[in-house]
Amino acid sequence: MKILKTVKEMREQIKEWRGKGLSIGLVPTMGYLHEGHASLIDASKKDNDRTVVSVFVNPMQFGPSEDLESYPRDLRHDAKIAEEHHADIIFNPEPEEMYSEGFSSFVDMTVLTEELCGLSRPVHFRGVCTVVTKLFNIVQPDRAYFGKKDAQQLAVIKHMVSDLNMNIEIIGCPIVREADGLAKSSRNTYLNKDERKAALILSQSLNHGIKLIQNGETDCSVIINAVKEKIQTEPLAKIDYVKIVDAANMQQISVIDRPALCAVAVYIGKTRLIDNFFTEDIRNGGAV
Ligand code: PAJ
Repeated sequence: MKILKTVKEMREQIKEWRGKGLSIGLVPTMGYLHEGHASLIDASKKDNDRTVVSVFVNPMQFGPSEDLESYPRDLRHDAKIAEEHHADIIFNPEPEEMYSEGFSSFVDMTVLTEELCGLSRPVHFRGVCTVVTKLFNIVQPDRAYFGKKDAQQLAVIKHMVSDLNMNIEIIGCPIVREADGLAKSSRNTYLNKDERKAALILSQSLNHGIKLIQNGETDCSVIINAVKEKIQTEPLAKIDYVKIVDAANMQQISVIDRPALCAVAVYIGKTRLIDNFFTEDIRNGGAV
């Protein structure tokens, strides 16, 4: 497995593969890889001849008071995981390689970014859409892989690809969890022992919501209040949001009468964690 740092090297590699008629999968990440990222690499390996994993902590998607500086980084660890999962290339550009002086073009999205993380993190999705567009242009993959862990991000990227006629198939992959239910996340490393225990309240409260839906509840306010009440039993937890939205456009709904997403963002101490479930996945037997 090679680690490439420049757009030029990446393009040369892609040209060589394309010359041989090989298909290409891209797994965009910010590194500090864990089994969640690895599951995306595995999915790409199944579908494509070659797999590129990008590792780039994208400054543009962090707000001024967010954790850009402290975001965990460990390229050697990332290379080990990517290699174990048989990725072909890690693309690891420096910020200056991606954003040269005078950079002034952006990809932005309305409607789908108005709720959930878009409300709490106003510059976030502009940064995500811009960097993902750049990665798509550099790697020109046939398919790109995103986790349902970041459900709004997945919906936003699917919509962007459709709106802007990008010829790339977007594949959404299931959330990978720790044995006790906590969704794997690079940010889990911020949690101390007590916070790690407290963080279980995210998946537990969502499971509570799932049970209500399985018992026939369709009133969103009933489900949301039950999930909120459960989270509030944990003293270290502070709710950012608990919402149910239309899975297609990420707008809030009051009754579950279509495919929906129930999403939570909760501060455990200073660490903001997210988790969610799609109602379609419950109906297909999946649960948090
Ligand atoms: P990052 O948080 O590193 O996540 C990279 C990809 O891994 C995302 O698609 C995310 O949804 C997926 N992922 C993370 N944890 C997961 C889990 N527990 N189970 C399944 N998939 C999981 O998301 C980003 O980086 C960035 O915003 C990026 C798309 C790379 C743009 O900078």
